[in-house]
Amino acid sequence: MKKSWLMTIASVLITVPLLLLAVSVKENTAGQTVNPAPDIKKLEPRSSEWGKFFPRQYESYLKTGQSDEIKDVLKNEPALVVMWAGYGFSKDYNAPRGHYYALEDNINTLRTGAPLNPQTGPMPTACWTCKSPDVPRLIEEKGELDFFTGKWARHGGEIVNTIGCADCHDSKTMELTVTRDFLKRGLDAEGSLKFADASHQDMRSLVCAQCHAEYYFKKTEYTDDKGEKQTAGVVTFPWDNGMSAEDIEQYYDQRDFSDWTHKVSKTPMLKAQHPGYEMFVTGAHGKNGVSCADCHMPYVKEDGATYSSHQVGNPLENIENTCLNCHDKSEKEFRETVAGKLERKEELSRIAMDVLARAHLEAAKAWELGATEEEMKPALQDIRHGQWRWDYAIASHGSFFHAPEETLRVLGSAINKGQEARLKLRTVLAKYKAADYQAPDFSTKEKAQQIVGLPFEKLVEEKEQFLNGLKGQWFEDGKAKGIYDPKSREGMKLKTSYN
Ligand code: HEC
Ligand code: HEC
Ligand code: HEC
Ligand code: HEC
Repeated sequence: MKKSWLMTIASVLITVPLLLLAVSVKENTAGQTVNPAPDIKKLEPRSSEWGKFFPRQYESYLKTGQSDEIKDVLKNEPALVVMWAGYGFSKDYNAPRGHYYALEDNINTLRTGAPLNPQTGPMPTACWTCKSPDVPRLIEEKGELDFFTGKWARHGGEIVNTIGCADCHDSKTMELTVTRDFLKRGLDAEGSLKFADASHQDMRSLVCAQCHAEYYFKKTEYTDDKGEKQTAGVVTFPWDNGMSAEDIEQYYDQRDFSDWTHKVSKTPMLKAQHPGYEMFVTGAHGKNGVSCADCHMPYVKEDGATYSSHQVGNPLENIENTCLNCHDKSEKEFRETVAGKLERKEELSRIAMDVLARAHLEAAKAWELGATEEEMKPALQDIRHGQWRWDYAIASHGSFFHAPEETLRVLGSAINKGQEARLKLRTVLAKYKAADYQAPDFSTKEKAQQIVGLPFEKLVEEKEQFLNGLKGQWFEDGKAKGIYDPKSREGMKLKTSYN
C-alpha cells in the first residue's frame, strides 16, 4: 500500500514538470525563439552541433566541466596499490570528475600507458567504450566485432569527443536511446526488465546504465572481411545469473574468468568496474521507481522555461530541485544524512582494504617459503571473492547513498572472506615456521608502490612523451576527418595526479 502511494506521489512529481516542459517547449517554438526543428546527423558526435538547437541543455551540459578536481585515491588509500599489484589501477586512480573530462582522463591516466603507434600499449579498444559518442558512431561504421578488436591506440584518431548528446539521444526525435547494445543484451539475459519493456521512466536510468554498470571484456573469435581469424574483447554485462555481488561472482567463477593474476599473491583476480546500476536497483529509490535523472538531471526553471539540467553531478548541489521534490526535510538534514552514510561505508571499506592488502602480502610470504599450490588454493579463492565483493560494494562511488544496506552487507562479507583467507594463510605460514610473520609497512603510496615493484617514475616519463606526441596527433586526425568538436575541449588544462 505504502509503496504504491509513494509511487503515485513520485510519478505526479515527475509528470507535472514533464507537462510544464511540454508546454514550455511548445511556447518556445510558437515564439520562434529557440528549438527550430533539429537538423542533426545520425550519431553526430559533436555536441555543439546539437547545442545550436538546444542551447539550454547544451549550456548546462558544458557545466560538467566545473567538476574538475583531481583526487588521487591511491595517495589517500595506499592499501589499494597492494590490492591491485600487477594491474593498471595500482599505477594511477583518481576519483571521478565531470563528464566533460571523461575522454581526457582516459587518455591521460597512467593506466592507458604510452603507446607509440596503433599496435602498442597495455589496453584494448574496449577501454574507450564509456567515454565518447564516437563509440556508437564507430560501431555503426565498422561493426561491433571490428570495433572491439586490437589495442586502445588503434582508435585514437577516431575517439575525439567526450560523452555527449549522441550517447543518450536519437538525433531525429530527441527521444532517449540506448546506443550500446551490450546493455540490451545484459538486461534480456538477466530477465527482470527486458529491454523491449522499458518504460520512459526506466530509460531515464538506462541511458546511464550503459556506462555506470559492471562489465568485462569477453573474448570472442571471428573471421574478418579478409578471411583472417581475429579475437575481439567485447564489452559484456555479466548478468546471466542476476546482478548481486554473489550472482556475478558465480558467473565469473563458472567461466574461470579473471581480469589479471595478482603480482604478489598470484591470485586469479576480478576487478569490479562500476556496478552503479546493479547496486542502485536494490536501494529504496530504485525499488520505488525513482530514476537516475530525477536526482542527477533535475528539471530547472529559467526565464519561464523548464528543462532538464544536463549538469550531471552531485545532487546535493541542487537539493531544492532534487531531494526536496519528494522529501520534506531541511538542506542541513539531507547533507547530514548523506554524510553519515558515507562515513559508515568508509569505516567498513577501510577495514576491508587493510585486511585484503595484508592477505596478499601474507600469501606472498607463504609462496616465498615454498608453500604448494594445493596449500594456497583455498586461501587464494577467499582473497579473490573478498576483494571482488569489496570492489563491487564501493566502485560505483555512489552506492553508499543509492543502496546503503546492500553496500554495508557486501562490505561485511568482503571483510569476512578476507579474514578467512588470513586464517588459512596463518596455518600455512605456521607450517613453514613463520607463524609470527608481519606484512611490511604500506602506509604511503610510495612505500606501497615500492613493495609491489612498480616503476612509477618510468611510467610517468613515458606517459609525458605520449602526451606531448601521439595525443595531439589524434585530435589533428579527428579534425581532418571532420568529427572533432574543438568546443568540447575549450579551456581544458592538463590535470593529473602525477604532473
Ligand atoms: C557514455 C558513458 C556514460 C554515460 C552514458 C553516463 N556516464 Fe556518468 N560518467 C561516465 C564516466 C566515464 C565518468 C567519469 C569521468 C571522469 O572522471 O573523467 C562519469 C562520471 C559521472 C559522475 C561523477 C561526476 C562528478 O562531477 O564527479 C556522475 C554523478 C555520473 N557520471 C552520473 C551519470 C548519470 C546520472 C548518467 C545518466 C543520466 C550518466 N552518468 C551517464 C560515463 C558515463
Ligand atoms: C547521459 C545522457 C544524456 C546526455 C549525454 C544528454 N542528454 Fe539530453 N536528456 C537526458 C535525459 C535523461 C533527459 C530527460 C528526458 C525525459 O525525461 O524525457 C534529457 C532531455 C533532453 C531534452 C528534452 C527537454 C528537457 O530538457 O528535458 C533535450 C532537448 C535534450 N535532452 C538535449 C540534449 C542535448 C542538446 C545534449 C548534448 C549537449 C544532451 N541532451 C545530452 C539524457 C542525456
Ligand atoms: C535519490 C537521488 C539519487 C538517485 C535516484 C541516483 N543518485 Fe547517484 N548520487 C546521489 C547522491 C546524493 C550521491 C552522492 C553525492 C556525493 O556525495 O558526491 C550520488 C552519487 C553518485 C555517483 C558518484 C559521484 C562521485 O563523484 O563520487 C555516481 C557515479 C552516481 N551517483 C550515478 C548514479 C546513477 C548511474 C544513478 C541511476 C542508476 C543514480 N546515481 C541515481 C543521488 C542519487
Ligand atoms: C522522485 C522522488 C525522490 C527524490 C528526487 C528523492 N527521493 Fe529519497 N526517497 C524517495 C522514495 C519514494 C523513497 C522510499 C521511501 C520509503 O521506502 O519509505 C525515498 C527514500 C529515501 C531515504 C530512506 C532510504 C535510504 O536509502 O536510506 C533517504 C535517506 C532519502 N530518500 C534521501 C534522499 C535524498 C538525500 C535525496 C536527494 C539527493 C532524495 N532522497 C531524492 C523519493 C525520492
